[in-house]
Amino acid sequence: MNKFFLDLGVQPLANNFLKKYSANQPRYNLKLYFNTKSKMVSISKRIPSSVMFNSKYPYRSSMSSTMRTSFRQLSNEIKKKFNPKLLLEIGSNDGALLANFDKDRAIGVEPCKNLAKITKEKKYYTYDDYWNFKLSSKIKKKFKEVDLIYSANTLTHISNLKDVFKSINLILSEEGVLIIEDPSLFESIKNNAYDQFYNEHIYVFSAIALKNLLKKFNLEIFDVKNLPTHGGSLRYFIKKRSNKKYNVKLSVKKQIDKEIKKGLDKFKTYKDFATKSTKSKKLFLELLKKIIKDNKKIIGYGATAKAVTVLNYCNIDRELIKNFTDTTPEKINTFLPGKNIKILGYKKDILKKYDYAFLGAWNFKKEIFKKEKTYINNGGKFITHVPFPRIINK
Ligand code: TYD
Repeated sequence: MNKFFLDLGVQPLANNFLKKYSANQPRYNLKLYFNTKSKMVSISKRIPSSVMFNSKYPYRSSMSSTMRTSFRQLSNEIKKKFNPKLLLEIGSNDGALLANFDKDRAIGVEPCKNLAKITKEKKYYTYDDYWNFKLSSKIKKKFKEVDLIYSANTLTHISNLKDVFKSINLILSEEGVLIIEDPSLFESIKNNAYDQFYNEHIYVFSAIALKNLLKKFNLEIFDVKNLPTHGGSLRYFIKKRSNKKYNVKLSVKKQIDKEIKKGLDKFKTYKDFATKSTKSKKLFLELLKKIIKDNKKIIGYGATAKAVTVLNYCNIDRELIKNFTDTTPEKINTFLPGKNIKILGYKKDILKKYDYAFLGAWNFKKEIFKKEKTYINNGGKFITHVPFPRIINK
């Protein structure tokens, strides 16, 4: 049974960056649910994939050095451990991972045509289509089977998980490995990161819920790793149950034990999370209002989907956060979804004019602090809302 636990209010589509602000852009009610049987956490409203992922999708994986390094390290690990004859990436984005593989040994699936175009131009065989059974059958016809499937931050964006795993099963070879990577529910709860939820993040997986789901498809997790990406992610190594080539590692039990200890299998944990999120909203607004009262200026740093959730949930307007800045070309000179707040292109001295910068991309704090050393040394301050609202460098 799905039980409701948190209402994040009326939200816009998190990646709907408009060239001209419109108060009439599509909006939906963002509510969070916990399924007491499957232990899956999900959002209520399902926006059709074609509305969310189209030829204007602005998110680019290779925009940050943290992500590029993470993909390079993973590619080396994949080659060393699994040496796949053919790798398939579901949600290949602009090819940040594919770029580390030979063109005849890696193929991509990417429904956002603007992104698929980038990898096609680099001569990686790319299907500019949605991941589903029909596409999987088409790939099977051409390539027979795939011995490594990789998918980061994509499967949790697809409503029909049954179809997702059925399609994976169809083309994954008997000894093949599926690697998926998504934000960790444990970390989201721990960091009170309610902003991990938005229309694209239909599910935030725990190892507990994923294990329950995979069982239905005769798949199992045989290893799991915690990663720093996206504010704390999990990388799951999955195989067919019949595949005896790999043993199930202790890491799986350890992660599940950790999650049980945190109460991720209990509804009460989510009710507590909701209470903390409501409190976080109140404290964050108080912090911003105090800064503005002191005649200081705030800019948002990183126009992330997460920041969209925060600003729309907390009802923050440009009286509080004047502008955002972001390096992504597709986001520059557009408006933060749902808000009449303009996103300025990143320039070296952009922060100079602002006393405070709200870390929209708090998951890149390390990278950003390194980049903005001069701003910090000159008295510039960063604000965050995770794990609780505060000025980071007082
Ligand atoms: P990310 O946190 O991965 O996105 P989301 O919450 O949307 O999934 O995106 C990081 C965003 O921050 C991306 O739009 C690029 C931007 N960014 C900067 O503008 N400057 C930076 O130095 C970094 C690291 C990111």
